[in-house]
Amino acid sequence: MSITRYTARKSLEDLASGAEEHGPRSLTKTLGPLSLISLGIGCIIGAGIFVLTGKAAASYAGPAISLSFVLSGVACAFVGLCYAEMAAMIPISGSAYTYAYATVGEIFAWIIGWDLILEYAMGASTVAVGWSGYLVSLLRNFGIYVPPQWSDATGQVVAVANGTTGTAVFNVPAVFVVAVLTILLMLGTRESTRVNSTMVAFKLFVVAVVIVVGAAYVRPKNWFPFVPENNGEFGSFGWSGVLRGASVVFFAYIGFDAVSTAAQEARRPQRDMPIGILGSLVICTILYIGMALVMTGMVPYHKLAVADPVAVAIDVTGITWLAILVKFAALAGLTTVIFVLLFGQARILFTMAHDRLLPPLFSNVHPRFRTPIASQAVIGIVVAVIAGMFPIGLLGEMVSIGTLFAFVLVCIAVIHLRRTAPRVGRPFRTPGVPWVPLFGIFFSVLLMLGLPLATWLRLVVWLILGLVIYFGYSHRHSFASGATGA
Ligand code: ALA
Repeated sequence: MSITRYTARKSLEDLASGAEEHGPRSLTKTLGPLSLISLGIGCIIGAGIFVLTGKAAASYAGPAISLSFVLSGVACAFVGLCYAEMAAMIPISGSAYTYAYATVGEIFAWIIGWDLILEYAMGASTVAVGWSGYLVSLLRNFGIYVPPQWSDATGQVVAVANGTTGTAVFNVPAVFVVAVLTILLMLGTRESTRVNSTMVAFKLFVVAVVIVVGAAYVRPKNWFPFVPENNGEFGSFGWSGVLRGASVVFFAYIGFDAVSTAAQEARRPQRDMPIGILGSLVICTILYIGMALVMTGMVPYHKLAVADPVAVAIDVTGITWLAILVKFAALAGLTTVIFVLLFGQARILFTMAHDRLLPPLFSNVHPRFRTPIASQAVIGIVVAVIAGMFPIGLLGEMVSIGTLFAFVLVCIAVIHLRRTAPRVGRPFRTPGVPWVPLFGIFFSVLLMLGLPLATWLRLVVWLILGLVIYFGYSHRHSFASGATGA
C-alpha cells in the first residue's frame, strides 16, 4: 500500500471550482466586508478580555499585561497575514483544513480538521462556561441566586448557601446559551448574522465607554512599577511574567481566523477576506491595550483576580449603572463569541463532509433555511454536553493548544505554496515571505510551550483518536481512496 494514498492533494483549481458550485447543497453568499469584520470582532472580544485579563495581570504581569497584549497581538498579526493570503486564495469554508488539503495532503488535512474541533467546538464550550459565570454574577445583582450545583462543572466541589459544600451536577446556564444559539443558527445565516452584528455593536460601544470613562479615573501610581519585579519563579512577574501573561491572554485573540470559515458565504472573498481578518485583528488589539492600561491604572493590579475584573475596575468610578452595563456587555460579548464558533465549526465540518471524510449529514444543507441544519444540531448537542460537564480552565488550555497547532500549519502552508504553486493568483500576498510566516511559527510554538504538559498529552490523545476515525471511516470513503458515491 502506497503512502501517496494518504497524501493525495486537492488542486487549487479543484478547490476553486468546488467553491463556485451552485445548487441546493451550496451556501448563500450574503456577507460583505462589514459583516465579516463584525463576525471577526464577534468572535475575538470575549472571555479573554472580560475574564482572563484580570487573573493574568494579578498573577503574572501586573500593569505590564498591556505589553503581554502587544506581544500576543504581534504574534497573531504574523499569523493573520498568513491567514489572509490563504483565505483570499482559497475562499472555501474549511479554513486551515482546506489549506492543508492543498499543500500537504489528505491525512494532514484530516488531522488539522480534527484539531480545529478543539478550537471551534471546545472553544464554544469554554466561552459558554464563562457566560454562565457572568450570568450568575449579574443575577446576583438583582437578588436572584442560582444554585452552584447547577451552574458549575460536574463533580466540582462548590460552596452552597447554607455554608456547607456540595458537588456540582451540571452547568445548566452554559447548556442553555448553546441551545438557544444553535437554534438561531439552524434557522438561517442572514437572520442570525443580523442578531450578531447588533450584539457586536453593543459590546464595542461598552468597551469604548469603559476606556473613555475609565481613563478619567486612572491613578498613574497604580502603573508603578510597570513591570513588577520577578519573585524568583519563572512567569511570576518580571519579563518572564510578561511572556507568561502573553500565553494566557492569547485566548483573547482567538477568533480572527474564524472569518476565514465564512469565505464561501462572502460576496467578494478575494477582496473582503483580508479586510475581515486583519481589520478585526487591528481593532481588537487597539481596544485590548486600551482596556488593559485603563484597568490596571484604575485599581491596583492584585485586586483584578476575580471573575468580573472589568466590573471591579469600573466600580471605583462609583457609577453603578456602568458596572451593570459592563456585565450585560460581557454577556452579549461572550454570546457572539459562542455564536461565531458554532457557525465556524459547522462550516469546517461541511467542507470535510463535502470531501467525504465525514458522513453526508454534515454537508446536507436544508432546502428552505439554506443552513447545514442537522450538522448544527449535532454540534450544538456535543458543545452543550461538554460545557455542562467541564471546568473553564481545562477547556481553555485545550482550545489554545489546538488553535496554535493550526496556526503553525497555516504559516507552513503559505511558505510551501509560494514554492509549489507560485503562479496561482494571490489577491492578497503576505509581505516578507518567508520571514513573516516563520515569525508566525516561532511565536505560536513559543506560546504553545507556555502551556502545561498535561495539555500537550491531552492533545496527543485527541489526535490519536482522530487517526483511529480516519483509518476506520474517513479514508475508506474519501475521493483519494477511490470510493464512489454521493
Ligand atoms: N477570543 C475569544 C474570547 O476571548 C475566544 O473569548
